[in-house]
Amino acid sequence: MPSVSSLSPDAPFSCRALHESRSKNCFSMVVVLESDDLKSSEYAGESAVYYDYVASGVEGDVAFYVEEARAAGSLVLELGCGTGRILIPTAEAGVEVVGLDASHDMLAIARHKLEGLPPHVQRRVRLVEGDMRRFALDRRFSLITIPYRAFLHNLDVEDQRQTLRRVREHLADNGRLIFNVFDPKVQNLAAGTWAMPANRRREFVHPRSGNRVTVKEEFTYDLERQMVEGAFVFDEIDMTTGQAVGTIRSPLTLRYIFRYEMQHLLELSGFRVDTLFGDFKRGLFRAGGEQVWVARPR
Ligand SMILES: C[S@@+](CC[C@H](N)C(=O)[O-])C[C@H]1O[C@@H](n2cnc3c(N)ncnc32)[C@H](O)[C@@H]1O
Repeated sequence: MPSVSSLSPDAPFSCRALHESRSKNCFSMVVVLESDDLKSSEYAGESAVYYDYVASGVEGDVAFYVEEARAAGSLVLELGCGTGRILIPTAEAGVEVVGLDASHDMLAIARHKLEGLPPHVQRRVRLVEGDMRRFALDRRFSLITIPYRAFLHNLDVEDQRQTLRRVREHLADNGRLIFNVFDPKVQNLAAGTWAMPANRRREFVHPRSGNRVTVKEEFTYDLERQMVEGAFVFDEIDMTTGQAVGTIRSPLTLRYIFRYEMQHLLELSGFRVDTLFGDFKRGLFRAGGEQVWVARPR
């Protein structure tokens, strides 16, 4: 295990990391991973650039996570923070937050957004490049969140349990874990194909070229392995000629999880479940909807 290194006097926590770097306005503690640890093309390059144009989250998720962060108070840890869709509003609401993500490119976008914000907001944020299955920070957190189904990137039981063990170890005694995953729709499983959520944008204007970009999904289920596998396909179309000028495939593999499977995983990993909501208005759980879990250390 690499050694523990302190960041600086004004950064009151450190990370077991092979090296660390400091950008203009926020710290980036870089945990170097073995090369085969992550599917490198997911959330990298253009896939990361397109993320904010298509991923609109689950209805009400930003307000819900910000409210929970305010109730918990600093320090909050968001695993799989991506481009800061939830992390930045959390910091703007006055909460100190550490965002950990495995994608260098997603974090670079988050960092760029932060650099345009007032210094007092920037000071509330630390970004860490790392793996939710293996991170080690020398702070404990009042709240750890894994929003927008990022837990489903754990592709087998060992990865799921490792992530939950890391969370358990980093939670304060009365801290909470809050995260959401989609509940598999039996209709989709029966059809064998995954349908893009209705609120995901189907087209946008390319940020650099100004061309139109359309989005299609090509996903299938592997019922034995409980996987949804495939790619989003982005076609860039010249606005004046109507001709296709390029296609990007953005691969994605997720391990879907059933309700009681998730409950058992939490209990096996040292948690007790406080609540399972079915949406971000704190409604009842409904099959085929969302699983919004609130858990505490046992
Ligand atoms: C669906 S995005 C969610 C981003 C953000 N939380 C949001 O709500 O918009 C999933 C994120 O999880 C990250 N991720 C995937 N596997 C990871 C891992 N093993 N450790 C840390 N982050 C991971 C991806 O890089 C990506 O940024």
